[in-house]
Formats: sequence, C-alpha cells, structure tokens
Amino acid sequence: MRTHFCGLIDEALIGQTVTLCGWADVARDLGGLCFIDLRDHEGIVQVVAEPSDAAGNAEAIAAASKVGYEDCLRITGTVRARHAVNDKIRTGKVEVVAEKIELLNKAEPLPFHHHENPGEDVRLKYRYLDLRSPDMQRKMRTRTRLVSALRHYLDARGFQDIETPILTKATPEGARDFLVPARMHPGEFYALPQSPQLFKQILMMAGFDRYYQIARCFRDEALRADRQLEFTQLDMEFAWVSERDVQDLTEDMIRHVFREVMGVELAAEFPRMPYAEAMRRYGSDKPDLRIALELVDVAEFVKDCEFAVFTAAANDADGRVAALRIPGGAALSRKQIDDYAAHAAKFGAKGLAYAKIDEAGAVNSPVAKFFAVGAFDALLKHVGAGNGDIVFFGAGAYNKVSDFMGAVRLKAGKDFNLVSDGWAPLWVTDFPMFEWDDEENRYVALHHPFTAPAVDSIDDLRANAKTAVSRGYDMVLNGNEIGGGSIRIHNSQMQSAVFELLGIGAEEAEGKFGFLLDALKYGAPPHGGIAFGIDRIAALMAGSESIRDVIAFPKTTTAQCLMTGAPSPVPDKQLAEVHVSVREKPVA
Ligand code: AMO
Ligand code: AMP
Repeated sequence: MRTHFCGLIDEALIGQTVTLCGWADVARDLGGLCFIDLRDHEGIVQVVAEPSDAAGNAEAIAAASKVGYEDCLRITGTVRARHAVNDKIRTGKVEVVAEKIELLNKAEPLPFHHHENPGEDVRLKYRYLDLRSPDMQRKMRTRTRLVSALRHYLDARGFQDIETPILTKATPEGARDFLVPARMHPGEFYALPQSPQLFKQILMMAGFDRYYQIARCFRDEALRADRQLEFTQLDMEFAWVSERDVQDLTEDMIRHVFREVMGVELAAEFPRMPYAEAMRRYGSDKPDLRIALELVDVAEFVKDCEFAVFTAAANDADGRVAALRIPGGAALSRKQIDDYAAHAAKFGAKGLAYAKIDEAGAVNSPVAKFFAVGAFDALLKHVGAGNGDIVFFGAGAYNKVSDFMGAVRLKAGKDFNLVSDGWAPLWVTDFPMFEWDDEENRYVALHHPFTAPAVDSIDDLRANAKTAVSRGYDMVLNGNEIGGGSIRIHNSQMQSAVFELLGIGAEEAEGKFGFLLDALKYGAPPHGGIAFGIDRIAALMAGSESIRDVIAFPKTTTAQCLMTGAPSPVPDKQLAEVHVSVREKPVA
C-alpha cells in the first residue's frame, strides 16, 4: 500500500514521489491551501495540498479539506524542501506535496485526542487511541527494545528459554493466588503462577544448567504505580553457582541493555549494601542513592530526656530514634510540616517531631522543652544541623521508624530538588531469612521459602532463626526494586526444616511441595537465580512514573480493564459447568 513510512521521510528523498499511509494528526484548511500532519508509527510528516501546482490538485484540495482528526489516509505526492523548517520533528526539513489523497477510513468524532492530555481513565477505556500517540508509541518501543536486548544477551550465553505452566499449583511468593476452577475435577482448582519459581528450580535438577523465560506472573495483591495483577518477569535460574556468579552475570546484562537501549553507561561495578545498613542509613531496603540525605541514629542523645516517646524507643532493643536533617528545610511552613507528618503517618508514624533552626540560629521545636540545658544543642550538633535547616525525628519500633523516616527522606528529596540526575544501581544483600508476623503469630519468609539460609547447619538455623541471614539479593535502581533472587536450598532436610520454621507442618509440606522435596533427594545440584521486573525496568527507561505506561493493556488501581470491562459476571450455565456457585452476586 505504501512506499515509505511518514516519520522517515527526509532530505535524501527530495524530488521523489512517495506513497504514505497514516492518520491525520492535524488537518488545517487555510482556504485553498490545506496542511495535513500525517502520522504513522515512525512519526509525522507535513503534507500540503496547494492550488498552484500540477494537475490533480483541485481534487487533492477537495479531499484534503474534508479530512478530520484520525482519518485513515493514503497519500501520494512529491517530497520537497520546506520553507519554514520545524526543528521539533525528524521530518521537519521536508514536506510532501499531495497529488492524490485517498480516504481509507473516516474516523468518527473522537472521545479525546492525544493533544489534549486527557485523564487516565479515558485513555484506558479507548486504549487503542491512546496507544497511537507518539509518546505511547515511544514507550512501547522502548519496552520492545529492552526485551529484545535481554534475549540477545542471554541467547548468546547459552541460556535456554523454556516455558512453564500457567495452569499450575500455588507458588508462595507472598501474594494471594488467582484460582481457575478445574471443570474435569469438580471442586478443584488450578492456581495461576505468582512466578515460575518451583518449575525453574526443577529445571536445574533436570539438567538444564541455565534457563530464562520472559514470564507472565499473576499476583492478587493491591495495585500501585509499580504493581500490576499480572506483570512480566525476566526469570532466570543457574545450576552450579554461588551468589557472585548470578550477580556478576546479571549486572553485566543490565549494563548491556542500558547501553543498547538508552546509550547509558551504568557503573562498572554496582555498589553493594547489606540490608541492615540500607535500613539504618536510608530507612528502606531499596534506597534511592541519588538523594544524598541520610538518617542518623540518635538514641544515645535522647535516652535521658523527658519525652516518654523518645526514651521508650531509645531504651528498647527493638526500638529506634532516628533523625533526618534537611538542609534549607527551615523554610517549611507550619502547614508543610503537617504535610510531612501526614505523609509519615501513612507509613505508620504516630507523630513526627521536628526542630527548625532559623537563619539566625534560633531553634524552634515542640520537643526542645523535654531536654536538659545543652542536651538539645548536643543532639542537633550530632545530626550536623546548621542555620536554615530542619531536622525531623522519628521514634518507635525499629522497622516502623525506618519505614516512615525513609518515606520522609524520599519526600524531602523530591520537595527540595535533592534528587541528582543519572542512574544509581545497587545490590542489597544479607536480608534476614525470616520476619515475624504478629498477626499470624509465626515467621514468614522475607524472600520465599526456597531461599537458602547463610548458616552452616540445620541446628544453627533453628537456634538463630530470628537473626539468620539469607542468601538472597535484590537489584535496586533509583529507589526501585528491579530484581530479586537468591541461592536456593538444594538439600531436602534443610528445605523441610525451613518449612517447619515457617509453620508449614510435614503433612502440609508434603501436600503442597512433595514433588520438590522428592526432586531434592535425587541429586539436586546447587543452584540459584533471580527475576527482574521487566515492566519496572521499561518504565524507568521510558521515564514513566507508572508501569501502566509500558503495558499495552494494564489494569486500573481498582483491578479492572476499562477497555474490555474485565472482570465481569458469567452466566449461571457457565458457572455450573465448572462446578462453581457464587455466594454473593454483584448487584446489577
Ligand atoms: P520477586 O517476588 O522479588 O521474586 O519478584 C521479582 C521482581 O518482579 C517484579 N515484581 C513486580 N512487578 C510488577 N508488578 C508486581 N506485582 C510485581 N511483583 C514483583 C519486581 C521484583 O523485583 N521467584 C522470585 C525470584 C527468584 O527468587 O528468582 C520472585 O518472583 O521487579
Ligand atoms: P505530643 O507531646 O504528643 O504533642 O508530641 C510532641 C511532638 O512529638 C509532636 O511534634 C509530635 O508530632 C511528636 N511525636 C509524637 N510521637 C512521635 C513519634 N513516635 N516519633 C516522632 N515524633 C513523635
């Protein structure tokens, strides 16, 4: 149908006749002189229909004058240099003088046009119109290039791409499962995989050595800007490896794809940080190292003051009192300080004490009165506070204080323009093996239950479960967890011991993971791996705040697809076929 792409017409084609297909991005009729911005997936070129030229013009002008937004057109014309060069587009030095304009499909008046910057709900409902926009085309192209660069890298290194089942048994990655009723087995269900974790481990036991898969994962959890119900991992597993083997290769792979897709050279060696240090210094297990602010522990300086909230936390082994100094923060108004406290409250803070030091050095703080003469000054000095600064304080349980002070740090980084340009990758290592879950009154795995503990023996693990560190690792980029993995347990007894510590009894373990425990007994090699969040990496590369921008058909934060209307009720007959009855029908 066409000889060239709109977005690729350039000066080399001047004088040539071309046939182009595309959408009318903008059409302007200046009375006898018509301009059409013709757009395809490569970009936009200006088409002009003018009276003074060769034969056929009257027809071209008549056709051009009827063109509306998003009409599908086929245009034949001659490329010529443009008088008024447009530097903003790639084709800005040329235009196409129309000889023939065919209307291939008329578009009805649009619900919106991408020039208007409509709300996300409308964009998602008419996703096909939204995806046509040059910005979304660019973002989706970035994702395609990322996946292609990853595949090239891995294919060249002997990784085998192997598909694993979508209809399977529950894989515990910490979220709820999506269930699919099994028609042929009344009352039984398949689960959609939260990840291919168990299958990839079994593949190592099956002799595949190096595996990867661009794998769709399903997790029924609360949606956020960086979380979807279904998302895509680059899932990888290696036999006969230690953590350094996995990390070195995947770090090189990430450097490779940033170079290929973005022309960006990431650090020659990614820094590494133990989990405990990340929590202490940044209040996060995925610290954004582009922000220079750090938390400072101040328990020593407040443990004898008169403020019970501070002293209780300072004198508790599981407590924390942390300070965050923000240079220039004394300019914050009362209302802005309240906004910080409200932000901290979202992360569990019961309050957010502060001290403002004005330009003249005068201190204004609701908690200064609780300190002996000189003690508050000593505290501020320890934190490094100077004139014009504000210091925020958090006190309470260690993890909670870390969380909310970490959140305050990120907000301050943004508000005060303290986020430096560029890319800050990081390995976070030495995660705790278990986390105590107050609600369930048992340990839960911080990564997943197949992660190997960094201990010498089962007895050692049992004796030190609370403090045991795992052989897990995360890759972090600019404050986003882009990948996580571990060295796995390859010994059946150790796996059983970990299940036991997690409160999974022998019978339950046999029912759920018997196949894994069996496979571990027949010569399972040491193995480990990692999975990267493709959506998250693509969003970072595309400069998007949300992974929804790099997923063609994402769900909303209310877990719906606005275009298809999923999820939706199904007829009773269909439910009966799969032996399901619905307890509470949605109100129609
Ligand atoms: P994990 O659960 O850490 O590990 O997931 C790996 C990576 O997948 C991405 N990710 C998500 N992206 C979008 N939406 C979600 N809901 C979502 N959840 C996770 C993140 C994360 O780092 N089987 C293990 C990996 C392993 O041990 O090898 C796993 O799934 O970028
Ligand atoms: P109050 O005496 O409760 O008004 O608290 C005095 C100051 O301490 C206020 O600025 C509170 O925001 C702050 N505050 C209260 N609880 C905490 C806490 N757990 N951590 C940090 N600051 C707190």
